[in-house]
Amino acid sequence: MRAACQAATGIMQQVAAMVVPGRRTKELDEAAAALIKARGGKSAFLGYRGYKGNICVSVNEEVVHGLPGERRVQYGDVVSLDVGVVLGGFVGDTATSVAVGMIKFETQRLLDMTEKALYAGIAAARAGNRVEDISRAIQQTVEGAGFGVVREFVGHGVGRKLHEDPQIPNFVERGKKSPVLRAGMALAIEPMTTQGRPEVELLRDGWTVVTKDGLPSAHFEHTVAVTEGEPEILTCRKTTPSAVPAS
Ligand code: MF3
Ligand code: CO
Ligand code: CO
Repeated sequence: MRAACQAATGIMQQVAAMVVPGRRTKELDEAAAALIKARGGKSAFLGYRGYKGNICVSVNEEVVHGLPGERRVQYGDVVSLDVGVVLGGFVGDTATSVAVGMIKFETQRLLDMTEKALYAGIAAARAGNRVEDISRAIQQTVEGAGFGVVREFVGHGVGRKLHEDPQIPNFVERGKKSPVLRAGMALAIEPMTTQGRPEVELLRDGWTVVTKDGLPSAHFEHTVAVTEGEPEILTCRKTTPSAVPAS
């Protein structure tokens, strides 16, 4: 798991460095394919339920599962990258949202709060806690900042397969008792958030999820191991630098 996760992280950071104005999202996907191959891995997404990309690239109002294509990145965009790599029979899954140069203050705050929510969720990923403790920490951070939490997509267990039990919602479902966390579990924790209303819809490509109100979205994801003590962030990294300076 550590090896697969560090491969996914390295590739994501290398692709993030290529997120510059004029770049087509499919060029980012092609670069990711080459980087995955160079590490002897395979994309965990390519072919998943017929998905045709190697990674997901979601721009601005695109929340997740952005299918790479002809769209060009522009100055002022937010670009979310999601990378899943299979290496040595295990999957690493990680995502980040990068600002292309200077973005609106409220959108930068959305990015900051979403990453903060991810770390609040991770802090709750301790043996003896329940999945809902993670969910609550994320929801309180995001909604407390005045932003929206997407309901239609959730985090998940991860291991030999990309999506394993348990599901990890980024919101608490009233009256529902969630599973207890145990040491040895690997979890993909991934808040998906919106600057405006939380409602989303699907584009005609059958994959790309967008906000209904067209406002920007953010997505940060780590694969985390539950231990007897502190959670271990398997996809740990330095904060993803933006390839385009803000001023
Ligand atoms: N975004 C999903 C995750 O992190 C995986 C994408 S599946 C794909 O779990 F097929 F859309 F790529
Ligand atoms: Co992912
Ligand atoms: Co995931």
